[in-house]
Amino acid sequence: EEVRVFCPATIANISCGFDVLGLALDSVGDEMVVRKTIKKGVFITKIDGQNLPLQTEKNAAGVAGLALLEKSNYPGGFEIEIYKKIKPGSGIGSSAASSAGAVWAMDYLLGHPFTKTELVTFAMEGERLASEVAHADNVAPALFGDFTLVRSYTPLDIVPIKAPEELYATIIHPQIEVKTSDSRKILKTTLSMETAIKQWGNVGGLIAGLLQNDYELIGRSLEDHIVEPIRSILIPGFDKVKKASLEAGALGAGISGSGPSIFALCRGRDNAENVARTMKEVYVNIGVEHDIHVS
Ligand code: HSE
Repeated sequence: EEVRVFCPATIANISCGFDVLGLALDSVGDEMVVRKTIKKGVFITKIDGQNLPLQTEKNAAGVAGLALLEKSNYPGGFEIEIYKKIKPGSGIGSSAASSAGAVWAMDYLLGHPFTKTELVTFAMEGERLASEVAHADNVAPALFGDFTLVRSYTPLDIVPIKAPEELYATIIHPQIEVKTSDSRKILKTTLSMETAIKQWGNVGGLIAGLLQNDYELIGRSLEDHIVEPIRSILIPGFDKVKKASLEAGALGAGISGSGPSIFALCRGRDNAENVARTMKEVYVNIGVEHDIHVS
């Protein structure tokens, strides 16, 4: 018995929601084939497209799968083939796609014994392996779809939010690799009340904008006063790309997850394509190798 799953790429943080907000892309992601085995354990039998470890304990999908098996009374195991299209270290949830895909497929093959929130806790173990912190802002949208808010980590409380119909994301990926663990170490651990007030105003604004299909409000809320000023220094041409995307009509733009990818949210596919062209032009002009997606 086997299942083939699409494992979506995700944009974590979405500017103002560090570690709590994320969204799933519907046309960028990995594929994975998962099969039941008689032998107990999780076995990664193939990884196509990237050079990643096959050892279960060193692979995000493997670790997430083991976390699920530990909480299950199923006596057998699973083998996993991963067809990797998301580049690790690109900022669009590569490890999350693997972790979420594996646990989703296993739960499916076992007849859905777990809730989605339980699957998120298993997938978070894959994130712990990949980034040293078990953050849920990529795995939650990968499992729930659309947008998610991690309202609380203890206890884990995930709030799914439907994406407005006309919302598109453009993502440009400069060809450098940024490890999430490294880009977390440079962050400050304290902030002023003044900064916090601006930030939670935007988080509330973004959620309200999504629920009310208020594209202008979504755009006004895509600001990050905490993380972007620090991390953007690691990203070639960040300010230029962001400025160009806003001039081309994007609702807002920021760092995708821990970078280096830059995302823009747009109203309508035409605008998203236009923003993609403008972002690309900036990188062509300053000579940065890149790839680009509209989703
Ligand atoms: N919230 C995490 C971070 C996402 O920004 O470090 C990593 O993809």
